[in-house]
Amino acid sequence: MNMDLDEAIKGRRSIRVFKSDDIPVEHIESVLEAATFAPSAKNGQQWRFTILRDEAKDKFTDWFMDHLLSMRKKHGDTFMGSAIPSCEIMNEAPVSIIVWNTNEFGWLTEHQSVAAAIQNMLLKAYSLGIGSLWIGDIFYAERRIPGYFNKSWALAAAVVLGWPAENPGPRPRLSVDEVAEFL
Ligand SMILES: Cc1cc2nc3c(=O)[nH]c(=O)nc-3n(C[C@H](O)[C@H](O)[C@H](O)COP(=O)(O)O)c2cc1C
Repeated sequence: MNMDLDEAIKGRRSIRVFKSDDIPVEHIESVLEAATFAPSAKNGQQWRFTILRDEAKDKFTDWFMDHLLSMRKKHGDTFMGSAIPSCEIMNEAPVSIIVWNTNEFGWLTEHQSVAAAIQNMLLKAYSLGIGSLWIGDIFYAERRIPGYFNKSWALAAAVVLGWPAENPGPRPRLSVDEVAEFL
């Protein structure tokens, strides 16, 4: 049965603690398929995905952690924000997906297309009972990650998937009155 849209939009939470159980490939494919139904600038479908599990994930997160630790040595703790915890979450979750933007034209709208796809992924994951986290902290290695995967695309995000082992309450939201004006 499909989840009610309001329940998906309002019930989804960022999940940062996961069980170690694998996510079946069919579920990962469903999440990716949801991404492919997002709107995109000129229907360019600029999204691309690299799915990391098992050794590929461990190898990448070890490499990323080394990079973060060397940056911390150079710039200090305050510069790093939540990057090290985010990397640890990527390591602990069973699936990390690197999301790319083919960025063929260098349009801002290409980035927006990929962001729309990511939101579809999070909602689809939630509807399957899968926890997810959108990780922007990988931008601490923005220029190096394409080289690591031998890609010419722009980095868009990492999306972590796993069975939730926490049930966080809702984060505060601004009301419609606070964010909108009707003219
Ligand atoms: C573009 C973007 C980047 C984010 N990057 C991170 C991140 O690197 N690490 C993290 O723990 N959460 C990250 N988040 C999750 C946000 O912290 C979270 O969505 C926000 O606090 C609202 O909570 P909710 O998702 O549970 O509603 C990111 C979210 C977005 C949209």
